[in-house]
Amino acid sequence: MNLTDDRERVARAREALACARAVAVLTGAGISAESGIPTFRDAMTGLWSRFKPEDLATAEAFQRDPRTVWDWYAWRRERVNGVQPNAGHAALVALEQSCARRGARFDLVTQNVDGLHHAAGSRRVHELHGNIRRVRCFANDHPAERWPDGDRPPRCAVCGSMLRPDVVWFGESLPEAALAEAMRAAGACDVFLCVGTSAVVEPAASLPFAALEAGALVIEVNPHPTPLTRHASITFAGPAGIVLPSLVA
Ligand code: OAD
Repeated sequence: MNLTDDRERVARAREALACARAVAVLTGAGISAESGIPTFRDAMTGLWSRFKPEDLATAEAFQRDPRTVWDWYAWRRERVNGVQPNAGHAALVALEQSCARRGARFDLVTQNVDGLHHAAGSRRVHELHGNIRRVRCFANDHPAERWPDGDRPPRCAVCGSMLRPDVVWFGESLPEAALAEAMRAAGACDVFLCVGTSAVVEPAASLPFAALEAGALVIEVNPHPTPLTRHASITFAGPAGIVLPSLVA
């Protein structure tokens, strides 16, 4: 792509975002990469390199080996607590604010469990896969704010069952309200912005296609091609922290 094409695409995307009556955004692990959180599929480093995420992120894995699964999430939670939102998160806050100023609808759907959109200041966030900063019990979903050191996993103060991260594991249902909002937003938006997701995990992967079918302009931001790339209306093969600020400035 030459510079003129780049400028043209930026201008088209900026105008579409600035004029839309309803904007929907889907984010994945890529938007947090520049905050220093490895993407889901790159996350297994150091001690964890002999595991596959798909083998730890299941209820069966937790029942079989609760300590290993708890420790993996505790390690990830620690990393998340130590990082800050980046320019990509901030650009989505600015986009939400500009939509609010002109009375346009804005929905941010995320597959990320790191809570960085909230930390950046985004307000209408639908978390499809839960949030790693929250904990609940395995048997009854009792939320837990704190727990004693010692047992790994710790026990629920109410019912004594094991505590687990409040995230969606493979094979589990997504939170109904978040999923319903995500599907509504995808079907009703004029512009759908898909950022930093490999676009392979359902049902999130279908959202940009639902938007396309409903006639929305679909913009993808991802340095690498995905199954969406050849269908998207406008694509930016660059990092979210650089591309998003240029679309929203
Ligand atoms: P992945 O790790 O599958 O994909 C991350 C995507 O981000 C890749 O397509 C990268 O090319 C892209 N990427 C990397 N750096 C980027 C940057 N700086 N800016 C923009 N994009 C960048 O993560 P997800 O697609 O989020 O679900 O994974 C979706 C779901 O798969 C996860 O939520 C998880 C997993 O199954 C559950 O745990 C239920």
